[in-house]
Amino acid sequence: MEFDKVIAKRHSTRGFSNKKASWKDMVNAVEAVRQGPWADNTCSCKFLIVEEPKTIAQLATLADQSWIADATGMIIVCNKESSLEKMHGERGRIYARQQAGAAINTLLLKLTDLGLQSCWVGSYEDTHIRELLDIPGDITIEALIPVGYASSSPKNKDKPRKKPLETMLNWEKWGESARPALWREDKRRPQPEGFGYKVGIK
Ligand SMILES: Cc1cc2nc3c(=O)[nH]c(=O)nc-3n(C[C@H](O)[C@H](O)[C@H](O)COP(=O)(O)O)c2cc1C
Repeated sequence: MEFDKVIAKRHSTRGFSNKKASWKDMVNAVEAVRQGPWADNTCSCKFLIVEEPKTIAQLATLADQSWIADATGMIIVCNKESSLEKMHGERGRIYARQQAGAAINTLLLKLTDLGLQSCWVGSYEDTHIRELLDIPGDITIEALIPVGYASSSPKNKDKPRKKPLETMLNWEKWGESARPALWREDKRRPQPEGFGYKVGIK
């Protein structure tokens, strides 16, 4: 799928049909993550794939989010922060957490590219999940990613779902929300297509 289309198509899905997510697709999504950037090229992330419906239902209960039980696959993103901490101290822990976030995003995008739907789930009580899945104490559980095929198409598909781009941008210095006149000549250049760029120029 074209990259912009994948970005536009990805959204959090919280309702799944009973069509089963293929384990091969889930492995392919993890393979996409493997290609990503890693501090020191050290991949601190580990992925636990769950296909057993009973276990997925238990995870839904432990996360207190009943909709998760309908997912036909689950990827649990784990992280061994100590692998980078040994090399970089506290900074290494920060790297590990940052790269887990980047990994999750790649995972979601690749799942979308493969025609699957998913959702980043960060709200759960990890002690019981650890017990259920034998995850050791030195491994951080970064996210649960329920995977499957949506039971219905997204509501309000054409309504803008995000804050405007301008609210995210600063120019040259923090707090400058408009692009300085210095760059005004650029205005004649064609704007990039796809997401409706509307960036103020002083
Ligand atoms: C760190 C993080 C934790 C999240 N935890 C949950 C969660 O526990 N349950 C849930 O339904 N959605 C969760 N989400 C998904 C967000 O609610 C969702 O991404 C947001 O509403 C934007 O919608 P979109 O993903 O469709 O663009 C989480 C997202 C992030 C980034």
